[in-house]
Amino acid sequence: MNDEELINKIQSGELTIYVIGIGRIGLPTALSFANSGLPTIGVDINQKLVDRINSGKFPLKDEPGYDVIFEKVMKENKFRATTNFHEVSSADVIILSLPTPMDSNNIPDYYALNSVAEKLHDEISRNSLIIVESTVEPGFIEDQIIGKIEGQDNKLKLGKDFDLGVCPETANPGQILNDFERLPRLVGATDEKTRNLIMKIYKHVFTVNLISMPNCKTANAVKLTTNVFRDLNIAFVNELATVFERAGIDIMTVLEAAKSKYNFQVHYPSSGVGGPCLPVNAYQMINFAKNFGFETFRLVKEGRIINEKMPLHTIELLEDALKETNKIISESSVLVLGVSYKPDVKDIQISPVEQIVQILKEKGANITIYDPYYKNSEIFGIKSSNDLISGLENCDALIIATAHKEFHDLEPLFLKSKMKTPIVIDSKCIINQYDAKEAGLIYRGIGRGKI
Ligand SMILES: NC(=O)c1ccc[n+]([C@@H]2O[C@H](COP(=O)([O-])OP(=O)(O)OC[C@H]3O[C@@H](n4cnc5c(N)ncnc54)[C@H](O)[C@@H]3O)[C@@H](O)[C@H]2O)c1
Repeated sequence: MNDEELINKIQSGELTIYVIGIGRIGLPTALSFANSGLPTIGVDINQKLVDRINSGKFPLKDEPGYDVIFEKVMKENKFRATTNFHEVSSADVIILSLPTPMDSNNIPDYYALNSVAEKLHDEISRNSLIIVESTVEPGFIEDQIIGKIEGQDNKLKLGKDFDLGVCPETANPGQILNDFERLPRLVGATDEKTRNLIMKIYKHVFTVNLISMPNCKTANAVKLTTNVFRDLNIAFVNELATVFERAGIDIMTVLEAAKSKYNFQVHYPSSGVGGPCLPVNAYQMINFAKNFGFETFRLVKEGRIINEKMPLHTIELLEDALKETNKIISESSVLVLGVSYKPDVKDIQISPVEQIVQILKEKGANITIYDPYYKNSEIFGIKSSNDLISGLENCDALIIATAHKEFHDLEPLFLKSKMKTPIVIDSKCIINQYDAKEAGLIYRGIGRGKI
């Protein structure tokens, strides 16, 4: 496709887009393309998801704004979903938004991308433009994906039979529409012509600035750098938090004041770092460095070790608080508030709360869970409560594990009146510790010394 053909196809609304992988990121992406007037088809192996979408039911209830766009593009027949991979042979543009998780040894697992690249080798027949939005290690596109699409039989050649670039996804779950309208996007490709084509397409769909990258690996390096930066800074405040607790210093007071320094970027302590991005991206960076002889990428690894210890530290705070009532965990009923890995989304991927629950189980606690996004269901092997009040009754200790909006309004006096033993472990520091003390709670906050 050259510039002129592309512009004509965009203007006539004939540029056909296939988004492979229509999960948390791929579905909103596909809907944005459809909403810009381009016929868009989502391809996924999840038959239930595809059926649900085609029957007009929007699956991402926690993504504000996309429910309206979904209804609009479905009505206009601009979007549909399919499990039939053969359809991609008619695509002008193929966007890959496939999962890039890690295995139980923290090794990045690129199975979905690799297998789809091999399938594309069999399907591509019309000089399609392939754009990888999934998060991968720098060099993975150049070293793995291109070869798999070209195939060993040399049926396809990059630049002749297909073009390829990347536009790493940086949106934040729960606010994807907002981020798609605000966050600049990085565009890298295997040559300048392809990069310019991708920039033109994304300019048509999104209103944000596009940052031109010299190649795919640099764009992917930027994506990993921003997320590993966060993981490391959170590790820093988590380590500070454990020291400040003993020193009787409140980390929230420190961070609030530190924010006033122009070159300080604030991060907050918590019971761990979860989700499909930060932990995985740190391990992707570690794996990437290995290729260049950096067997132990020390700083990034240490950051992971600190963050991965925070669920255990949360339980240590609980054990310390229980001492004040002469109780032990195995004789206590503990309510865990929130299971999502971050506030206000329905997502438990790599949630540190799973580890908190696991440790509580091992120590013999009687566990109850309440999360407004997971009412009355089985989470981490525990039946979750239908409402907060019934969860609070008969409870000896409360762990605030996820700072969902609903929990920000929790009044210490209310908690004291409902709980059997008023122990509160606040891993997100959302409760005012002075109010907690006045109300008679036995309070511990991550990074907060006893007052
Ligand atoms: N979720 C986030 O916060 C976020 C943010 C930025 C970037 N990313 C990156 O975006 C990519 C996608 O992540 P996600 O969170 O949307 O994942 P997801 O698990 O929500 O969605 C992935 C979808 O791909 C489908 N799929 C898996 N294998 C497939 C195959 N072989 N063929 C077709 N479909 C297949 C799954 O059924 C699923 O619907 C990842 O690389 C992730 O790191 C995610």
